[in-house]
Amino acid sequence: MKILVTGCCGYIGSHTLVELLNNGYEVVGLDNFSNSKKDVLDKIEKITGKQIVFYECDMLDKDNLRKIFQENKIEMVIDFAAYKAVGESVEKPISYYINNVSSVLMLLDVMKSFGVKNLIFSSSATVYGMAEEVPLKETSFVGGTTNPYGTSKLFVEKILMDLYNSDNDWNICIFRYFNPIGAHSSGLIGENPNGVPANLMPYIVKVAKKELECLNIFGDDYDTVDGTGVRDYIHIMDLALAHILGVKKLCEVKSGLHIYNLGTGKGISVLELVNAFKKVNNVDIPYKIAPRRAGDIAECYASIRKAREELGFIPKRGIDDMCFDAYNYVLKENENEKN
Ligand code: UD1
Repeated sequence: MKILVTGCCGYIGSHTLVELLNNGYEVVGLDNFSNSKKDVLDKIEKITGKQIVFYECDMLDKDNLRKIFQENKIEMVIDFAAYKAVGESVEKPISYYINNVSSVLMLLDVMKSFGVKNLIFSSSATVYGMAEEVPLKETSFVGGTTNPYGTSKLFVEKILMDLYNSDNDWNICIFRYFNPIGAHSSGLIGENPNGVPANLMPYIVKVAKKELECLNIFGDDYDTVDGTGVRDYIHIMDLALAHILGVKKLCEVKSGLHIYNLGTGKGISVLELVNAFKKVNNVDIPYKIAPRRAGDIAECYASIRKAREELGFIPKRGIDDMCFDAYNYVLKENENEKN
């Protein structure tokens, strides 16, 4: 089974590539490095001891995309390539829709012309919008997204549904990720965004490293266990492994459109995450309570029953592993930069 992985050097793509290689799949990687670094490829090779067939390519470049399919007998595609910064998407909706929607259309068109109809698409819990019920099920209401990033994921989901309705030979798996955090246990790959992070874990990590003074907790008056926002954090390695289950599922069923939530099914509050991080890593995380962030909701966590029953998905790593591995990665990265 030869699998094309787009966005293979990004946070989720790189961890998934490692698991695919470790599980004996042949992979072809694609990335345009718009939000990733070239050295990730060396690190993946170091972790797995395997060489990667790689193309530096923008998915909007249809000719190059076609070339990849001409040169490799691709049987399945896992599509991670997308922009993902919520705030930036509000400022630059056109580039978000071009990069996250048009590029998928290019990919689908090329896939179709080569008769490749197996696809795993990276979607997000963001499609549930303001989440009217928890735990969220795959059948819960989708829509009401509050930013172009979220809407771009929703649009692609709709496009994939239309595509499947037009031709039932397509074999599509849509994964709705909740909040992936942590890093590979080797400490070689992980997430360390430039600038001031918008998401919680990268922010905590920067406070731990004293690059940022203090964490702002956005609201402590929600109707939750301790008043702070509750989310479904999932270890990136568990999330990566879910893609192996997705690949196996598509090989087994041959056609269909399948949607799965990927989280742990457990809600964790901001304060619970901060306290776990402090304890596991033996560092201080100064914080202050700030006003609620616009667009945030009190609680968002998944029902993962469908993924468990149909894919055999059982996330193994807990919140302590997530905190340890997230910090271990940036500490190792610092060491490597010094050497
Ligand atoms: C955010 C995005 C979502 C995206 C997801 C990816 C928004 C509104 N939503 O979700 O579209 O799919 O990331 O992982 O940006 N928090 C703080 N202080 C901070 C940062 C966050 O208290 O400095 C709190 C938030 O209020 C929230 C929790 O931490 O309760 C998690 O926030 P975050 O990591 O940004 O994830 P989401 O809001 O779930």
